[in-house]
Amino acid sequence: TRIHDQQLRRGAGGELHQVADGGTPPLTTAQGVPVADDQNSLKVGGRGPTLMEDFHLREKLFHFDHERIPERVVHARGYGAHGFFETYKSLSDVTRADIFQRAGEKTPAFVRFSTVVGAKGSADLARDVRGFAVKLYTKEGNWDIVGNNIPVFFIQDAIKFPDLVHSVKEEPDRGFPQATAAHDNFWDFISLTPESMHMIMWAMSDRAIPRSFRFMEGFGVHTFRFLDAKDQSTFVKFIWKPKLGMQSVVWNEAVKINGADPDFHRRDLWNAIQSGDFPEWELCVQLFDQAFADAFEFDVLDPTKLIPEEVLPPIPVGRLVLDRMPDNLFAETEQVAFMTQNVPPGVDFSNDPLLQGRNFSYLDTQLKRLGSTNFTHLPINAPKCPFHHFQQDGHMAMRNPVGRANYQPNSWGAGPREAPTTGFRSFAADEAGSKVRLRPESFADHYSQARLFYRSQTPTEQSHIAMALGFELSKVQTGAIRERMLSHLLRIDDSLAAKVGEALGVARMPKPADAAVEPRDDLALSPALSILKN
Ligand code: HEM
Repeated sequence: TRIHDQQLRRGAGGELHQVADGGTPPLTTAQGVPVADDQNSLKVGGRGPTLMEDFHLREKLFHFDHERIPERVVHARGYGAHGFFETYKSLSDVTRADIFQRAGEKTPAFVRFSTVVGAKGSADLARDVRGFAVKLYTKEGNWDIVGNNIPVFFIQDAIKFPDLVHSVKEEPDRGFPQATAAHDNFWDFISLTPESMHMIMWAMSDRAIPRSFRFMEGFGVHTFRFLDAKDQSTFVKFIWKPKLGMQSVVWNEAVKINGADPDFHRRDLWNAIQSGDFPEWELCVQLFDQAFADAFEFDVLDPTKLIPEEVLPPIPVGRLVLDRMPDNLFAETEQVAFMTQNVPPGVDFSNDPLLQGRNFSYLDTQLKRLGSTNFTHLPINAPKCPFHHFQQDGHMAMRNPVGRANYQPNSWGAGPREAPTTGFRSFAADEAGSKVRLRPESFADHYSQARLFYRSQTPTEQSHIAMALGFELSKVQTGAIRERMLSHLLRIDDSLAAKVGEALGVARMPKPADAAVEPRDDLALSPALSILKN
């Protein structure tokens, strides 16, 4: 950093004034009025009361007083970077998404990594899921893949999301713990929610304390659809694979790093990109049709399940390179608004009930957080392709329809028109049935994939899971909750349950939890799940 020699002047009270010269512009108010003195407010005499007419002081304090906006209700702590996505080859046989039509096509991208639970100022190395949200500024509109570094989720239905998040955030009477899963409320909810067991195995594994953002995988989690030019559908799951491979720290390291440098992950990404060591991920897709979905052991609409990579090998379709840090953290990283419902033509949703709820939730939360329906006018959220619509006015409108027409159809030949052949069309799925609140039976197996994940791990990784569970549950004050968790673990793996029981000093193990579906032993082990084997 260059230290500028400023022209310095000393005021009557000994205060220093830095005066504009050829190299620095004059300071102005937000209205552009040049400021003569930024060190002293306007007073009656040197020691008298401050005058209300001091518009510079008033404007400066007013603006400062309003600097904070609500932090994200989840994923408040995050760090972003710009880059690009490069398509390897045309996928026109499965999707008409413009981004996948031409090999070598480069699409601008912005990525925000985050923790989920902690507040904006919390530490980077908390044991937590990491958000991996990607905004792709495609030529046919913004496409957000709002994913995590874990391929499954805690709950099956969006209606449980507020409960999950309330349980994991600080307890409402005492305001702690702030950023860790180690407390009664969280384990109470989890132990009463057997569908969360698969995710819990991942959250207690090394995946939840990554060495850096650069060594993490990312997952879209839900099943989506690709639609081709004839609107034929192929199911798709999205996976980001880091070129550097995966690395994690161990818990003792995480605790020390958090104490010594709570910005560890931020600093790592900043340093890597600033020194030209650009992190890179391959986007891989798992593609399958309705026949595969019908034959697969689990419901592909259930977000607590994955499709093992040896059952359906991920196909690399492009690479993501992060090569530029934002110029301004607030303007870009904080104000970026990711939304699962941002999909371009050629990408569509499945009926995954968690995804359907998310599609509703993100628009809502962005309005609250960013304060205006015009948040798409912010440069970080605006498309980088031409766009034309008739939306107008509202707080902070920076773009309104030009000319006479702000509606259509109109007789003036003015303004944009519908694009029936190239525009976004939804998959014409056949849907019929009675209107019910019902969890389908195909979502009922909560333990088989939890077992699959645990057993896919190396002995070292398995011991880390057992230690994490022992440590976290040892913080739970209520014996009945610890017991409930042990009863679930007995359904997942006896030896895991025994290790955790021993760590908790439990003399007599409880009965295994009731299970609607007996956990299976016959699933192929998935070596791709282990970090140490990769
Ligand atoms: C952020 C809701 C499930 C990934 C958020 C935010 C909300 C939210 C309200 C804050 C957004 C903001 O203020 O900008 C929900 C709901 C869910 C759900 C209602 C379930 C029904 C998930 C799942 C994933 C996920 C399953 C991963 C696949 C993310 C990420 C962010 C986020 C990565 C941070 C985006 C950023 O960096 O700005 N979510 N979420 N969420 N969510 Fe979810």
